[in-house]
Formats: sequence, structure tokens, C-alpha cells
Amino acid sequence: MSASLKGKSLTKELDFSAAQFHYLLNLAAELKAATKAGAEIQQLVGKSVALIFEKTSTRTRAAFEVAMAQQGGSTTVFDAASSQIGHKESIADTAQVLSRMYDAIMYRGDLQATVETLAKNSKVPVINGLTDAWHPTQMLADLLTMQEASGKPLTDIKFSYVGDARNNMGNSFLITAAILGMNFAIGAPKSLWPTDQLVAQAQQIAATTGATLQLTEQPEAAVANSDFVHTDVWVSMGEPDSVWKSRIEQLLPYQVNSKLFSAAAAGAKFMHCLPAYHDQETKVAQFAASLTGISGGIEVTDEVFQSAANIAFEQAENRLHTTKALLIATILG
Ligand code: CP
Ligand code: NVA
Repeated sequence: MSASLKGKSLTKELDFSAAQFHYLLNLAAELKAATKAGAEIQQLVGKSVALIFEKTSTRTRAAFEVAMAQQGGSTTVFDAASSQIGHKESIADTAQVLSRMYDAIMYRGDLQATVETLAKNSKVPVINGLTDAWHPTQMLADLLTMQEASGKPLTDIKFSYVGDARNNMGNSFLITAAILGMNFAIGAPKSLWPTDQLVAQAQQIAATTGATLQLTEQPEAAVANSDFVHTDVWVSMGEPDSVWKSRIEQLLPYQVNSKLFSAAAAGAKFMHCLPAYHDQETKVAQFAASLTGISGGIEVTDEVFQSAANIAFEQAENRLHTTKALLIATILG
């Protein structure tokens, strides 16, 4: 059963059904096992994928490039500085050009409208590798990681997300949990919740799938009984440095530290899409510390990050296996 993914674009999670999510997760698990066993069958020989980056990336770029290399295909990376995209050629024209040469297009940038315009004008599948609004390829990796670590069906997993919930990660978790009938809680100040419209849409989907969705300003209430506690950076790509001070003051009660983490279920795991500010080893963390006096980690303490509960690097590796599944399913069916 290919779940009819051939030629399909993934611009946001709402594009996919629960059955399509499950198909991709099963395929990713099979591909991961084959790769680990040295028994990978190359299915994308002669296929090429265009990767457009208007924002920086480590994991997403690595996942797409290595997935295509292991499958016998190739990639080309385009950015604004070295291509015509955006400043000399419209997104619609770019889609027409690239889809005559490539078998799929990945886009990472600010605007959701850009990836949707690409998809509308492309003859080949267009995959959202992160916009301000959604991060669907991250969702596939996070779901596979939670499935593997818990051994439970997705519908039996309780997970939570604390921190800045009104952008890509918060939106994506809310809708993904709704589509898949999961038990999910957001812990964030109300001003950083997903929009009322999105929450209503998620609740409408949840009413048909059996999902339990909770939004609370109480971090402990969100984390309570969670098998998995997720967070993300408090200031996302594209936001000005000037927001750091007030954001840290606003979100400090939502920091994943040992005290907050102890409110989760026994044996709970910590997850983060990465990169994470868990110590003072990055320029950004040092800058944030100079503004606020915060020492050590920001959205997560080094104590939690360095503990056995942290499975963020397994989660990062799963970007590769799930991206490979997505490319095979959308290019070949
Ligand atoms: N999690 C994630 O998307 O990482 P990159 O920004 O490094 O691609
Ligand atoms: N919310 C983060 C996710 C990074 C993978 C950002 O947009 O910067």
C-alpha cells in the first residue's frame, strides 16, 4: 500500500492523512533497519532533488543530502546569494524551471506562502523543510523517535511541548497530534500559544480522531504524566536579537530543568528538534546571557540535556531515515 503519496507535496501536516503518516513511519523504520544492516536497496538512482535554503540548516540539509546519496541519487543546494531565486526570478518561475530538471524540491525559508507557491507551480513534489509556520519533516522524525523509544502505538503516548508555542514547532505538534489521535499538551504563556483559529481547527480534527489536546499556562500541568517532554529555542530564526531579553524573562518558568522534568512520567524522555542552547558554548547563548544574566542553558539546562533522558540525538538521526522515506514515497510512490 503506497498510501497514494506519489507526486504529493508536503507543505504542512494538514496535507497528510493519519494513514499517510503511518505509511511513512513504517517505511522509515524499514529503511533504517536496512541501512543499519548494510542491506539498503538503492531506489533513487538517477533521481535529483533541489534543496532551496533561505535560512540556515544543519540537520535538514544533512538528512536530504545523505538520504539521496545513500539511495543513489543527487542533490543541488540553492541559496539566495548564489542563485537567482527571489531577487531576480519569482518563486513561481523558479518552480517551473526546477520541476523540469529535478524529481522533487525542498524549500526552507520564512514564508509559508513561498512553499505553497512553489508547490502550486511545480510538476514535482515540494517538501517544506521549515517555514515560520510549520516544520513537517521534523514531525516525522519526532514521531518515529517516540514510537521507537516507547514501543507504544502513537495513540497511547502522552507528550508535551513547553516554551515558544506560536511558531513552526508548536503549530506542527498541535496539528500532528490532532491528526494522529495523540494525547498532547502545550505549556506556554497565552501570548505564545498557536492562534485561536489553529487551536479551533486542531480541536475540530481531534473530535474525529480521539486526540486529547490541552493548552495551559502551567508548565507542570502540561508536563504531567508525559512520556516525552519537548522544547525548542525561545527565539527562532528570522526573529531579531532584540527580543531575547523579554523572551527569556517571559519563558524562564517554562525552562526544562530537573524540577520541571520531574513532573513528567517515570522514565520520561527529553526531546528537542535542535539546535539547543543547553550551555554557554555558542555565541547566541553567550549573547543571551550577557543581556539577562542567565547562566548555563536557556530553554533546557545542561543537567537535563546531558542526562540519560535526552534522546535528541536519536531524534536528529531519525531526520535521515524519515526524510529518505518521504523522498521515496513522494518521488516513486
Ligand atoms: N531541527 C532542524 O531542522 O535542524 P536544522 O535547522 O539544523 O536543519
Ligand atoms: N523554531 C526553530 C526551529 C529550528 C529547527 C526555528 O524556526 O528557528
